[in-house]
Amino acid sequence: MSRVEASVALARRNEERVLRAAHPIAYPAVRAIPGPVRRVPGLGVVVKDATLLRGVLMDTASFTKNGPGAPSDLWTPVLGPRVLLNMEGEEHLALRRKLGPLFAPAFVEALVADSLGEATRELADRLGHGERVDLVAHARRGASAVISRLVGLDSDVVDDELFARVSAVTGFVSLARPRLTPRQLGVARGILSELGEHAARAYHGDESTVPGRMRALGLDEREALGAVGAFVLTGTETIVSFVPRLAAILCDSGWLPRLAADRSLVDAAVAEALRVTTPSPVMLRSTIAAARVGDVTARPGERVILATFAANQALGEFDPSVNAAAQLKQLWFGAGAHYCLGAPLAMAQIRLTLDALLGVAGARGGAGLRVAARRPARGVLIPSYASLVLEAGRA
Ligand code: HEM
Repeated sequence: MSRVEASVALARRNEERVLRAAHPIAYPAVRAIPGPVRRVPGLGVVVKDATLLRGVLMDTASFTKNGPGAPSDLWTPVLGPRVLLNMEGEEHLALRRKLGPLFAPAFVEALVADSLGEATRELADRLGHGERVDLVAHARRGASAVISRLVGLDSDVVDDELFARVSAVTGFVSLARPRLTPRQLGVARGILSELGEHAARAYHGDESTVPGRMRALGLDEREALGAVGAFVLTGTETIVSFVPRLAAILCDSGWLPRLAADRSLVDAAVAEALRVTTPSPVMLRSTIAAARVGDVTARPGERVILATFAANQALGEFDPSVNAAAQLKQLWFGAGAHYCLGAPLAMAQIRLTLDALLGVAGARGGAGLRVAARRPARGVLIPSYASLVLEAGRA
């Protein structure tokens, strides 16, 4: 095995540890299901092929997010019935259109620079001065800052506790039991209504906050508060999962110093890392009209489990120079009507941190960054590191 192959294999082994710490049984079990699609009694129709998976996402006449076994079971009781991720058809499209300007590049870049700029400069400074920095703690703080912006809180209210409260809600969800207990529902509603109070105040204020901007874009108060809740729940853990995993893969595989020296493959490296990690590993749909998925006919009422992580990983090892991710049309962000609305925001956050890390790695004369310590998170829904400590090498 060459040195390059050994480094890529190390990156894969460490990723595998992250996946197994989160789902020691479910991951190997889904991987072991043979073929591209199969009915698994008690679970539903499991799809593991990228083309079939995209076909399901695009076929909104047969598959919905709003039915038995779909995500609406989980989120409707917490967020109400009209929060994008549990809507379909014209009404869904109309709400997405209204929200579109919030994710326009200029708005997103400004939001990310305002909320994360200073903390990111501090990250680079500390690493540059030889300090060890936990990238997970940094990513959590960044996520809290973005949540505050989305909810319309002042930046001085940003704290780690905010992240912890939001994560408590997503932490209730498990693959085996995708519905909240009455106690969990009570806690989740409490947290969301607390955030909702801030968002309602901001909604009635000026346009400088995200909820205020939503009012200007024509959303009624209920739509705005629902959208804020949806953003906070969908856009927090995915980023906190991905940014440290990206850094770990780049350090382990030896790609970080290569990218620092020549940034032409940075986009491919991010796409490849999104492909092999797939931070939102599974999507769910409920069948409303019988439809063929490969060799299997999904029946009305049946749940379809789209194992995006398996489909994405089937394309091989992380390799920005091959960039197998290019053929997937960003399947890690979904496809069709529910394609991740927050993708531009996610990409802006990712690029800001990655540019800072590349700056540190480049400035150290190619000595780069290394992972000084790491600990995968156990029993979480979105596979993540609990901590990933980075350290700059000696220049
Ligand atoms: C790396 C980070 C992220 C990944 C991998 C990701 C992935 C996804 C995926 C796969 C879907 C589609 C789910 C489905 O069709 O069932 C989705 C939807 C969504 N995402 Fe993201 N997401 C990320 C970050 C964010 C962020 C930062 C936000 C913040 C606003 C966000 C907001 C949303 C919303 C609102 C939807 C629902 C859209 C709809 O149903 O119309 N996401 N995301």
